[in-house]
Amino acid sequence: MSKPARTSFVCQQCGKESPRWLGRCPDCQGWSTFVETRVSGPKGGRSLLSKSVTPACELSQVTAEETSRLSCHLSEFDRVLGGGLVPGSLVLISGDPGIGKSTLLLQVAASVAGQGGRVVYASGEESMYQTKLRADRLGIKGEGLYLLNETSLEAILEQMGALSPCLGIIDSIQTVYLGELDGGPGTVSQIRGCTLRLMEWAKGSTVPLLIAGHVTKDGAIAGPKVLEHIVDVVSYLEGETFSSYRLLRGIKNRFGSTNEVGVFEMTGKGLAQVENPSEVFLSRRSQRVPGSVVAPVLEGSRPLLVEVQALTTATSFGLPRRTANGIDMNRLQLVVAVLTKVAGLRLGNQDILVNVVGGLRVSEPAVDLAVALAIASSFSDREMDPGLIAVGEIGLSGEIRPVGQLERRLAEASRQGFARCIGPDDSLEWRSLPAGVRVLGARSLRHALQIALPRKPRADAAGEGREARG
Ligand code: TYD
Ligand code: MG
Repeated sequence: MSKPARTSFVCQQCGKESPRWLGRCPDCQGWSTFVETRVSGPKGGRSLLSKSVTPACELSQVTAEETSRLSCHLSEFDRVLGGGLVPGSLVLISGDPGIGKSTLLLQVAASVAGQGGRVVYASGEESMYQTKLRADRLGIKGEGLYLLNETSLEAILEQMGALSPCLGIIDSIQTVYLGELDGGPGTVSQIRGCTLRLMEWAKGSTVPLLIAGHVTKDGAIAGPKVLEHIVDVVSYLEGETFSSYRLLRGIKNRFGSTNEVGVFEMTGKGLAQVENPSEVFLSRRSQRVPGSVVAPVLEGSRPLLVEVQALTTATSFGLPRRTANGIDMNRLQLVVAVLTKVAGLRLGNQDILVNVVGGLRVSEPAVDLAVALAIASSFSDREMDPGLIAVGEIGLSGEIRPVGQLERRLAEASRQGFARCIGPDDSLEWRSLPAGVRVLGARSLRHALQIALPRKPRADAAGEGREARG
């Protein structure tokens, strides 16, 4: 006698299971995310993997050859991967719908195929005709690039096995399904099951796989977080809708450093690599206006010069407003509080807007000093010397704290033609400052303000602190 089918309720956001329906998930706090799912006994997740038993092996007996990475010949993409694709790795490219994932993947596919490798591009989202139109637009001829318009993962892997490519692409994980699992494409059980199956296939065949995944509004990868745990590399393609720049940010990388960033620009012919982002972000900089300060920040291991702009206006009604674009709101509150309390600026009746130019988001505190100087510059209506940049974290008592990798930041500043940088005073103890940049050490925020926005004519350099010349 067959047992009646058992059902369970699964959160579509984080994968939590519950025997009863719940209005709110106790794990991820999502509302109305539980969906009734049939539990199919032995057909569960474990059966997705093969049943062969692998014996344990002593570590000293394991031989690991230095495997060569597959270069995609797109330096910005390779950078995020840590120097190319590792054989058998599973790489997730996630991002908002319409941000350019399919475009990037098609370009990567064409670039690898152009080197003589065979690439299979399986798209469940677009028909072959639509992909062809896109390829024409990108100027891709497509020798060695095989398209597959299929959503059944079994069929995709079968075709991939037959073609034995050097790279496989699945666009997107939300559109593929395994017939043996319950639920339609995009459900938690399907996404988890398909990813596990892809992982096993990639490891078995040593073919690297790239998969695209959509992100929900609140930033989580649609469906389960488990997807992030399974794959080897997680990267987000991000950018503002108003800006044509796209950043590919490494979030997790089992084979390289995380937080690497590749910079692209969306053009009429697809994504173009931006190899010198500082130049681009500073290109339309208006010289000699109050409220504009350049800061050398680090995106991953890459130094980048960004322009921080601030505008202060008297509050006309109600509470003063603070607006932060591209920096953390809490950091802005901190900087404003220190400027008010320690440096004595009367900002209590001022609306303050801070913006990082180019749609870039800077999360490191090293940008604090530039934010503070930009606000002070706008508030006092005095512009900073355009050849002067600023870097440093601000502490609650108004001290300027040291920042990491100062030499690399200064080297980039020097490359872009900046001659002077206000920085933490103790950075002067550093021995190998790059040639061409002078560091003006500031002991405190008050001191930094004296250097950057002197009241006396600039020729009188009395306010300048200790100096170190590279
Ligand atoms: P797409 O790669 O389809 O996004 P995703 O796969 O992440 O959903 O990108 C679509 C957007 O990119 C669309 O708004 C149009 C734009 N685009 C260009 O601006 N130039 C191009 O050459 C291409 C192919 C797309
Ligand atoms: Mg797409």
